[in-house]
Amino acid sequence: MTTTLITGANKGLGHETARRLLAAGHTVYIGSRDAERGRRAAERLGARMVVLDVTDDASVAAAAKTIEADGGLDVLINNAGIEERTPDGGVAGPAEITADMMRRVFDTNVFGVVRVTHAFLPLLQRSAAPVVVNVSSGLASLTRAADPDTPGFGYPGVAYPASKAAVNMITVQYAKAFPNMRVNAVEPGYTATDLNQHSGTQTVEEGAEIIVRMARLGPDGPTGGYFDVDGPIPW
Ligand SMILES: NC(=O)c1ccc[n+]([C@@H]2O[C@H](COP(=O)([O-])OP(=O)(O)OC[C@H]3O[C@@H](n4cnc5c(N)ncnc54)[C@H](OP(=O)(O)O)[C@@H]3O)[C@@H](O)[C@H]2O)c1
Repeated sequence: MTTTLITGANKGLGHETARRLLAAGHTVYIGSRDAERGRRAAERLGARMVVLDVTDDASVAAAAKTIEADGGLDVLINNAGIEERTPDGGVAGPAEITADMMRRVFDTNVFGVVRVTHAFLPLLQRSAAPVVVNVSSGLASLTRAADPDTPGFGYPGVAYPASKAAVNMITVQYAKAFPNMRVNAVEPGYTATDLNQHSGTQTVEEGAEIIVRMARLGPDGPTGGYFDVDGPIPW
């Protein structure tokens, strides 16, 4: 039996990933920073629920203790993420971005990934087939950001793509340090969720596909890579 934790799984891509992995036979913990939102999602899906705010050491430590007491963890999906918005709802570009905005985004998207992974490492190391999926973004690709012929080229934001580029580097470093684990970064594609006020062009079913696929990797699967649904993408 495979036990999986998905952070920020009370809605959006994390919620859909939970639904799919439950159908594939995983025991799934919905991580939710809000107990009531998490409880409702877990009830809807038939999943377990753990309160987990990725920006809070005590919350993450308590979640790790609960899951350890229940028997451990095989798959960690670092999915919780935010995109900073200006007061008028726009994306903060180079003229608007401040250190405080950067810090808020990094606290969730980057330090959150490290906080959660660090707390769950001892559990993952006891698994026979440990897997970590870091939900990154295509906007993290430096190659694409510098190429006028790619769709993300015109995206003006600073904090969000920088945070996901950091997630990519964290992924590579963890993958090298823990060769017994499959550790990969994924780009779900532009998906209609609350993150982008549902402007995304894909459904959550489509967006969750690569997250689910990488969560189900066996010990012979790739590690230290960056993938979308069609395969490896440039860093
Ligand atoms: N949608 C896209 O087009 C797209 C594309 C590429 C990558 N992604 C990535 O996919 C992941 C999921 O995003 P989504 O599109 O599904 O957005 P979403 O619907 O807004 O879901 C984000 C989830 O993260 C949770 N979250 C935020 N801050 C948290 C914290 N401090 N602790 C715990 N959970 C927290 C949210 O919980 P609350 O309900 O409590 O706010 C929510 O459950 C993110 O990492 C995002 O960057 C999305």
